[in-house]
Amino acid sequence: MQALPNLFDLPIAEPAAKLAYEAIQQGKNVFGVVHRQVLSNLKSTFYPRLGKVDSLDDETLEYVRNRQTDLLERDWQDAQEGVYPVSLLFDQPWDEFFRLYPQVWLDAPQIWQRVDQKKVQEFAPEIDVEGYPRYYIQNFHHQTDGYLSETSAEIYDLQVELLFGGTADAMRRRILAPLKRGLAAFSSIPANQIRILDVPCGAGRTLKQLRGTFPDASLYGVDLSPTYLQKANRLISQDRGVLPQLLQANAESLPYVDNYFHGISSVFLFHELPAPARQNVIDECFRVLRPGGTFVICDSIQLDDSPELKMAINNFPVMMHEPYYRHYSTDNLVKRLQDAGFVDVETDVHFMSKYLFAHKPV
Ligand SMILES: C[S@@+](CC[C@H](N)C(=O)[O-])C[C@H]1O[C@@H](n2cnc3c(N)ncnc32)[C@H](O)[C@@H]1O
Repeated sequence: MQALPNLFDLPIAEPAAKLAYEAIQQGKNVFGVVHRQVLSNLKSTFYPRLGKVDSLDDETLEYVRNRQTDLLERDWQDAQEGVYPVSLLFDQPWDEFFRLYPQVWLDAPQIWQRVDQKKVQEFAPEIDVEGYPRYYIQNFHHQTDGYLSETSAEIYDLQVELLFGGTADAMRRRILAPLKRGLAAFSSIPANQIRILDVPCGAGRTLKQLRGTFPDASLYGVDLSPTYLQKANRLISQDRGVLPQLLQANAESLPYVDNYFHGISSVFLFHELPAPARQNVIDECFRVLRPGGTFVICDSIQLDDSPELKMAINNFPVMMHEPYYRHYSTDNLVKRLQDAGFVDVETDVHFMSKYLFAHKPV
């Protein structure tokens, strides 16, 4: 029987698909703005003394909007150039959105109460916090139970999407082109023997994108959170292909032998680590990467690459509970990578994220 053509391969589909992509992204952005505004108004009504952070002026808002438009254009271009399939751009978990959105609202009153009481390390009694690094036992982003409950794992991706107006995946995808270029160094190795590690894999969004981009590669993910690993497992089990291998581990002490991986990705981790842990993770990634391998990082923008957004960078740890962010915002990650032994370190910025690409010398 003849296989059905992929809808995205039809020539007429390209302009229609681009329009659809832009419309979906615009819809998500408007929804995110309205959601954050209503949330903020309700918080001020119930907890007036919590106050509001200063909003950005019109010029800065325009600047942010332009950066967002550039990000989405780049995302579309990379898909057109075949870095990853166009279908990845439409990988929206709508069913999850409708199922989980009410949960975000149900969680809000508990969050406001904890913020009001300045509680930032509060966990349900049934959650065992023993054995984790002390810096990790935090209600990051004021999340109920930090990274350690099933509910937190369920709604994390949706909360990130609402925070970034639906651009979180587009920001994550900016690591894929440089990783693909880096892995070309191993073109003589069969695709199914290429090993890529995602540190930390969280609830699995980056692994899903890695699977779409490198369908035959062996994928690996580590994270400290057992519930996020379970969620990642459910998400990536929906995809065809060999399942990624997931392990619960501290990224400061990776459970792999030296020189094992051809590529390593790290998305949204470093701003949540104290400085010594940041260096330890980089050192570990260097150790487990093969000579000639590529390490790609996506994390928050920093003050030196985005001085126009100084106010947003300073507001972020005030709005969200991010105890290590202020130090992160001026930390020299290029030097940390070079100190570990990485060479040819490059940086880039897209919308609210900074990127670092580094290589282990051959
Ligand atoms: C902001 S989330 C990012 C998750 C994912 N990379 C993403 O793109 O959504 C931070 C993740 O880092 C994990 N994490 C924090 N410190 C860690 C450490 N030392 N070792 C391993 N995972 C860690 C948390 O459990 C959480 O899943």
